[in-house]
Amino acid sequence: MNNHATSHSQVVKEQGATQMSTPTRVISFTSGKGGVGKTHSLVNTGIALAQRGRNVLLFDADLGLANIDVLLGIQVEYTLHDVFEGRKTLDEIIVEGPEGISIIPAASGVDSICNLTFQERSILLQSVEGIAGSYDYLLIDTPAGIGSDVIYFNCASNEIVCVINGEPTSLTDAYALIKVLSRKYGEKSISILVNNVASEKHAQQAYSRLSRAVNQFLHIDLRYLGWVPSDATVRDAVTDQRAVIQEYPSSKVSLAISSFADRIEEDYHRLKVKGGVQFFFQQLLDVNNYGKEYDA
Ligand SMILES: Nc1ncnc2c1ncn2[C@@H]1O[C@H](COP(=O)(O)OP(=O)(O)O)[C@@H](O)[C@H]1O
Ligand SMILES: [Mg+2]
Repeated sequence: MNNHATSHSQVVKEQGATQMSTPTRVISFTSGKGGVGKTHSLVNTGIALAQRGRNVLLFDADLGLANIDVLLGIQVEYTLHDVFEGRKTLDEIIVEGPEGISIIPAASGVDSICNLTFQERSILLQSVEGIAGSYDYLLIDTPAGIGSDVIYFNCASNEIVCVINGEPTSLTDAYALIKVLSRKYGEKSISILVNNVASEKHAQQAYSRLSRAVNQFLHIDLRYLGWVPSDATVRDAVTDQRAVIQEYPSSKVSLAISSFADRIEEDYHRLKVKGGVQFFFQQLLDVNNYGKEYDA
């Protein structure tokens, strides 16, 4: 699996070398509350972007609850832990997913990126320099909540997609996260994806409730990026350990994720990004400044 994955990422690297014109877009998928469909949205969006000809790298940074590999039925042999121990390079631990997407599996044995030693962070930074620029997208599956890893990954990304569903707890927890990112870390813009709702009307209602509170109390630009319906095919695909967008490409959930991916693509040349993939990992050296204090 990993040998195959290595040759895959080498191919991606070569392709990337000829496509250096646009910087890697680093987008974190985050949420205040767990279980809102963050991993499912990220994985299927990544596949949809790959179907549009993009080189996509997913980073499973939900260190406590890693599950991109489980969701896709992929056997993971090595993780970031092996990179820190010097047994493998980052390139060698990357595994291949559907439509040729690449995945950095979560680090088993590492409970927080903020607990890495300076040396481990330097190793990671050096490894990333080897793959930086090879991808059009780096999508990061952050943990839920307002812990230091969540703050770190969101602050280090170019763009933040906060996933909510219609439940009041998902809205209050999203508000708490947005508040910390805006007040303590100066984030200027966050996009919202409403997942697992019955209709677009429900999605807009959920978004309106959140944006009313945000606009009243916080100085941050909230954008409605799209919605994904509640659909039984998601559970079937999860059970089969397959991506819904591949297993049920014409289901309403797959069509919604496809248009969400189109929306992200439309932004490609429009958005001013705050840094590329190197910026993202360089923040690692300064990681202790993230998430140590908040008053949410
Ligand atoms: N649009 C949807 N329709 C139906 N079920 C969904 C949908 N999105 C997520 N789910 C269900 O919610 C579960 C949790 O999703 P997951 O992506 O693992 O959440 P998170 O990463 O936010 O914790 C999935 O296993 C799936 O059963
Ligand atoms: Mg998850």
